[in-house]
Amino acid sequence: MTDPDLLQLRSDSEAAIGRADPATLESLRIGLLGKAGQITSLLKSLGGMEPEARKARGAEVNELKAAVTVALEARKAILDEAALSLRLQAEKIDISAPARPEVTGTIHPISRTIEEITAIFTAMGFSIKDGPDIEDDWYNFSALNIPAHHPARAMMDTFYLQADGGERPPVLRTHTSPVQIRTLLQEPPPIRIIVPGRTFRADHDATHSPMFHQTEGLVIGKDISLGHLKGCLIDFLRAFFDMPQLPVRFRASYFPFTEPSMEVDIGWNRKTGEIGKGSDWLEILGSGMVHPNVLANCGIDPREYQGFAFGVGIERITMLKHGIADLRLFYESDVRWLRHYGFSPLAPATLHEGI
Ligand code: PHE
Repeated sequence: MTDPDLLQLRSDSEAAIGRADPATLESLRIGLLGKAGQITSLLKSLGGMEPEARKARGAEVNELKAAVTVALEARKAILDEAALSLRLQAEKIDISAPARPEVTGTIHPISRTIEEITAIFTAMGFSIKDGPDIEDDWYNFSALNIPAHHPARAMMDTFYLQADGGERPPVLRTHTSPVQIRTLLQEPPPIRIIVPGRTFRADHDATHSPMFHQTEGLVIGKDISLGHLKGCLIDFLRAFFDMPQLPVRFRASYFPFTEPSMEVDIGWNRKTGEIGKGSDWLEILGSGMVHPNVLANCGIDPREYQGFAFGVGIERITMLKHGIADLRLFYESDVRWLRHYGFSPLAPATLHEGI
């Protein structure tokens, strides 16, 4: 470009475009390249010129037009970019902001107790197992050293299912102990498991329900002793009731699948129901050293391996911990009761204080 007027127009335009806001930019575009724009008029004026002069002039005006177009586009890109990042800034979602708690339900006290038991025993290195609700006679009784016609079978108020006449009639498991057998058959020792789950007995009153929950425990190794049983259960009960000084008593008892067997009692006040205070004892769980016959029934040599087992009634310890008087309330699904006795799903059971 040589024409000083065109050069002037170009530099003036470029300067104005360079600092234009979006509205100004649009009016600059119309003023230069619109129907009646300056550059458009220059192009129109070429029509009346001699061919030679028009060629030279045309090249100059077209060069001007190209330069201005580039400047307009460049400025538009900058303005668009700025507008976009402004919008992104304004619409930013803070994904680190805590969720607004909208609690519509609660954790049932039975589930809560299972969570707490799980937290305590996993901290001690136990793993969690489960087994079927429908067992057969062999897993529920015979393998646990309870032979046919043994009085312990009558004690359990068993629900028998339609039998097909076979040797192992199906039953609703009366305790979680059959999972001891399933585990001993599946895994080589050492074994350290707990088994929370449903159990069934034909019994119904304020402290018994035909469906209830237990947690089994089983520890098998080469040098497991009664001392381990006592230490483990004392630690468990004191952690569960959150009372480091909770009195715990071991009382000789009988179960076909343990020898020796012990009932475990905790100290309480019978009159007030207060745990850990007073001079009364309350039976809380069954335990013992796994009977050699049980190990032998599962193909484990009782001279090489031994261990202990225990069974805890989940409803029972939940009622004691939270002062719930009637076990039937657990299953009534009364929303007012659930709101009162339930737990926040946003505050799961943890063991941050340690055992
Ligand atoms: N299975 C027994 C019951 O339901 C409890 C128990 C389990 C006792 C393990 C000793 C060892 O009564």
